[in-house]
Parts: sequence; structure tokens; C-alpha cells
Amino acid sequence: MTAPPREAMGLLTERFGSPVTADLLSDRRGSRTWKVVTPAVPLAVKANVPGQDRARDKAAELEQEDQHLLHLTKVSAVEPSYRVDAGPWEGGQWLAVRWLDGVPLWHALALARGPEGNRPSVRPWLLAIARSWAQRLAGLHAAGWAHADVQPTNTLVDAETVHLIDYALACGPAEGRRVPYRGALTHTTAPEVADAVLSTSADTHIQARPEADVWGLGASLFWCWTGQRPVAYEDTVDRMAKLQAIARGRTVPLDNVRPWAFPAFERIITACMATAPDQRPSTAQVAAGLTEADQ
Ligand SMILES: Nc1ncnc2c1ncn2[C@@H]1O[C@H](COP(=O)(O)OP(=O)(O)O)[C@@H](O)[C@H]1O
Ligand SMILES: [Mg+2]
Repeated sequence: MTAPPREAMGLLTERFGSPVTADLLSDRRGSRTWKVVTPAVPLAVKANVPGQDRARDKAAELEQEDQHLLHLTKVSAVEPSYRVDAGPWEGGQWLAVRWLDGVPLWHALALARGPEGNRPSVRPWLLAIARSWAQRLAGLHAAGWAHADVQPTNTLVDAETVHLIDYALACGPAEGRRVPYRGALTHTTAPEVADAVLSTSADTHIQARPEADVWGLGASLFWCWTGQRPVAYEDTVDRMAKLQAIARGRTVPLDNVRPWAFPAFERIITACMATAPDQRPSTAQVAAGLTEADQ
């Protein structure tokens, strides 16, 4: 099985002692992630996959993620213990962060997606998840940053708490040179970002704003609760055609696809997915509104 970079394992062993075990967790789009367990702390270690088309971009993205984490830690938008270490390796770049317990949003919402989800224990829990997620994002937004890749697999749910991961594409104020941002996962791309991708050249950086994260939050909740992606397009059409449907605001009416009626939750999803960015609530407002709705 593919092991993490030797350079990373060497440094982590020196720092945390041995034995150290590593399990490959994911291998997609040019980067791999392992769970690395040391005697002191469990970690997630990411590294680019060398020799692929986008290998250089992925190494640059990992270096960029490290820069983002260093900056976000300094401005207290990310907990100081999260970023652990990073460096170059023979094939590119690696990054180690603290392991966070939790399951990706899609799995966490499995029960809520079915008709049996409509029960007194699930309803407040769904609101609590939305609130915790909005609060995490609000910390970034207060510092002037957008996460820029808000989507179900970058969201780990641990009981009522949500953890954000994957800061590679985040967009902050006054960044120097960076890998141009061209949107992330299509299904959770905000309409204004979709429009910018369609109307600018492939090497133009698009500065994602907090409002785009809000759309991604609503779209991810829509998707994982209903089991349907929030904008209607065929799987077979190319990314540009999907982005056109998103840019035109062609969202599926939530009424048609919700597993059961839950007005308080539906209101949040619908508000977050307003086509015009200035019509969306801020993440701080989403969190505050949920606190009231809960009482
Ligand atoms: N800190 C972490 N704690 C637990 N699991 C993690 C952590 N970081 C990443 N993972 C897992 O690894 C997967 C890939 O990590 P991610 O940072 O999203 O990289 P990428 O999307 O670039 O492959 C995540 O979807 C998650 O399942
Ligand atoms: Mg990710």
C-alpha cells in the first residue's frame, strides 16, 4: 500500500516518537491523505501524487494550504493546535494537521434523509449542526477570509459539532502570489463564482467572498438532507454547462425533494441559497438565527 512521504514520516517520528502507523484514507484528484497515529497525537497527513498532470499545481496547493493555516492561526480563525507540520518531499509537498474525529456530512445525515428522520431527537440536532457549521465559518469570515471549498466532504460532524477541513483553496485579503482560484466542487459552487468562471480566462484568479461560502453551506445541507443535488442538470453534461445552470439560479424547489417538512431548517437553506449574494444572510446571522429558532 502507498505510504506517506519518507520525509514526513521521518520528521513526525522525530517529533512524536515511534511506533507510527499510517493508513491511506483518500486518493483523489492528485492528492492522498493518510491517518497517521503517533504515540502522542493522531494526525491527518496530506501529500501530492507526483507524476500526474496536475502534480505541480497540487504541490503548490498544499504549500498554499500550509500558508493559509499559518495565517489563519495567527488571526485566531483556526485553533493553534490544528496545523502540525509541513515541508517538501522528493515528489512535492506534504502537510500534517491534527486528526479530527467525525464523519463526513453525507454519512452524518443518513438518518435525517429518510422519512424516519422526522423525529424529536433529529430536528434540533439538524439545527445544531447548521449552527455549529455557520459558527466555524463565521470565524473565518470575521477575519476577512472565505473557505472557498464548503462542501460535504470538507465537513466532519462529531455529535453536534462541525469541523472544517481543507483550507487549500481559501481566499484571504492581501494574499501574494497564489494558485488562481477557479471554483471548487461544481455542485456547491455559488452562482457568482460560476459566473466568474464562465466569463474569465482559466488563469484568472477569482476572489471568493464569504457570501459564496454561505451558498455552499445551504447547497451542502440541501444535498445531504434531500439526497438531491440543489441545481438541476444532467450528470452527463460538462462542467461548464453545469456552471451555466448554477449561474442562472436554476435551483430545485426544496418543497419538491425534502424528505419531510421542517420549516425552520428549510428557511435557512433557502435563505443561504439566494442567487444574489447580498440577499444571503451572513454566517453570523445564520448562527444567531438558529440560536433563537432553537429556543
Ligand atoms: N484533520 C482531519 N481529520 C480527519 N480526517 C481528515 C482530516 N483532514 C482530512 N481528512 C480526511 O481526508 C479527506 C481528504 O482531505 P482533504 O483535506 O479534504 O483533501 P483533498 O480534498 O484535497 O483530497 C477528507 O475528506 C477527510 O475524510
Ligand atoms: Mg477536501
